[in-house]
Amino acid sequence: MKSQKVLFVCLGNICRSPTAHGVFEQLVEQRALAQRIAVDSAGTANWHAGKAPDSRSMQAARKRGYELNALRARQARVQDFDEFDVILAMDNNNLQDLRELCPSHFTGHLGLFLDFAKDGETEVPDPYHGGEEGFERVLDLVEDASEGLLAFLLDQQS
Ligand code: 4NP
Repeated sequence: MKSQKVLFVCLGNICRSPTAHGVFEQLVEQRALAQRIAVDSAGTANWHAGKAPDSRSMQAARKRGYELNALRARQARVQDFDEFDVILAMDNNNLQDLRELCPSHFTGHLGLFLDFAKDGETEVPDPYHGGEEGFERVLDLVEDASEGLLAFLLDQQS
């Protein structure tokens, strides 16, 4: 059985992409697919490297049953394109930065995470400078797109 590796990428790797990492990984584990789908996250910036997710992201996620406290931020690197099959950006700025980093031999999928969502949004808005509702919105969008992403991966594996 083919296995796939998925990388979620935002700017700081402390709000949106760790949320996607934790939510999607839990979905994969619940469906007993952890042997077939591996999950990681990274930021295009290195500002928060080594740090745990933002406490507001952790708190909002915990209220919905997701635990993010073991995650640590790291910067996306060119080697990620050799390691990961599917690399998903949270917004168009992240996608542009990833396209600049992407080697020409990359044959995987590089795109927006919300391409897999039913909600009409295309970008996961950066919640860092806003209020609590922004963190709830991130979770809503991530939960929606996670279902679509899982269906896409299973279709590719079959
Ligand atoms: P993230 O959010 O990209 O979802 O992790 C941000 C985190 C930190 C900053 C900006 C966005 N910052 O400016 O430090």
